Parts: sequence; C-alpha cells; structure tokens
Amino acid sequence: MKFYKLVENAVKPDGFWGRLMIRSMNKGHHELTDWALSHLDIANGDFVLDVGCGGGRTVSKLCELVGSGKAYGIDYSELCVKNSKALNNKNVLCNKAVIKQASVSELPFDDNMFDKVTAVETYYFWPDKLNDLIEIKRVLKPGGKLLLVFEMLYDRDDPKKWEKVEKRLSIKAVTENGVTAMLAKAGYVNITTYKKEGTSWLCAVCEKENV
Ligand SMILES: C[S@@+](CC[C@H](N)C(=O)[O-])C[C@H]1O[C@@H](n2cnc3c(N)ncnc32)[C@H](O)[C@@H]1O
Repeated sequence: MKFYKLVENAVKPDGFWGRLMIRSMNKGHHELTDWALSHLDIANGDFVLDVGCGGGRTVSKLCELVGSGKAYGIDYSELCVKNSKALNNKNVLCNKAVIKQASVSELPFDDNMFDKVTAVETYYFWPDKLNDLIEIKRVLKPGGKLLLVFEMLYDRDDPKKWEKVEKRLSIKAVTENGVTAMLAKAGYVNITTYKKEGTSWLCAVCEKENV
C-alpha cells in the first residue's frame, strides 16, 4: 500500500507522499542521470532545459556543466517547482537557474532558445508523446540536442518486469526501437541510443536538423 502511494506520486508529486517521492527520485536517479549526461556534450555557455525536472537535482548538475550558460527546469507539479527552486536556491537567486511550472505540451519559451534539452524518467507520463517531442524541438536551436533517459526498458526475457507499475500508473515501459521510431517521426535526426550493461537503463540522444 505504502509502496503504491509512493509510486503513484511519480506521475505528479503532491502532498506528503509527493515530498517522499521527490526525495527518493533525487537520490534514486542520481547515477542514471550522470551516466546519461556523459553521452551529451554540454559545453560552457550552453542554455539547457530539463523537462519534468522533479526535485531539481538534474538542474543542479546542469548548472555545474554549463559554466557561463544557464540551466532551466520545468515541471507541471507545483510541489516539484517549489523543491527544485529550494535545491537550486543560490543559482536561482543569481538567475543562473530558472525553474517554471509548465507542461511539456506547452513550453513557456521562445523558439530556438536551447542548445540542449534533457528529460529524465518523465517521457512515460507525457500526454501526447509525438506532439510533446515536436514542442521540445520548437524550443531547441537548429543543431541542438535532446537527451531522453529511461530506467523502464522493456525486457524481452522478463516481459512482466514492469507490469505492476505499468498497470498502477497506466504507463508503458519503452523499447529501444519504439523510442527511436517516435523521435524520427517527430523529425529528429542523428538519433543514437545507449544501453548500460547489467541494467535496464536506456538513453537516446538526437538532434534538431540544422537547416
Ligand atoms: C519520475 S519523475 C522524474 C523527475 C526527475 N526528472 C528525476 O529524474 O528525478 C517524473 C516527473 O515528470 C513530471 N511530469 C510528468 N508529466 C509531465 C508533463 N506533462 N509536463 C511536465 N512535467 C511532467 C512529474 O511531475 C515528475 O516530476
């Protein structure tokens, strides 16, 4: 029961269980995020957006990686925005980090604004994956990159691995081919996927066409 209360709060953290979930995500996604970020060439001066920023730990990592650049985070959960701002307090105060409450479906940013966009363990929850990926492409600069990160990778040898969570949250574990096909359909190019041996981790890096 307690497990499910916690897990349900991965969708849109709120209240007591939401606070616990945020703490657990900041801790539990730390290594996964570091591994995935090692596949993205974030450069000094980059403007980077983290979609579905949760408790804000990825934003704090991005602040370190962008040097003189800027890190942004959006999440549609009010509690996540509050926690992300608190965790990144110093960088928020000096305007190096900007956290906003928003949905991935309607990003409150101008076209062509970001060098990179990251999205860690959030894709499963998006309401309209194709159009949400297109919305992210809108805010990426031409040649800008998107990094999608997953822990819930479908396992052919253990097809029921994620069944309980999938049913409880009405989501689906991803497949490598499914993610690649969706990114291609949304118009991304140079799509590369990476899997970490001995884990169920998957990340995909792709680009907005540079025309
Ligand atoms: C499992 S948590 C991951 C949080 C964070 N990225 C991390 O790795 O710790 C999923 C996050 O995505 C956010 N989210 C889900 N659907 C969203 C949407 N449509 N728009 C914006 N954020 C969303 C949730 O509020 C939650 O904070």
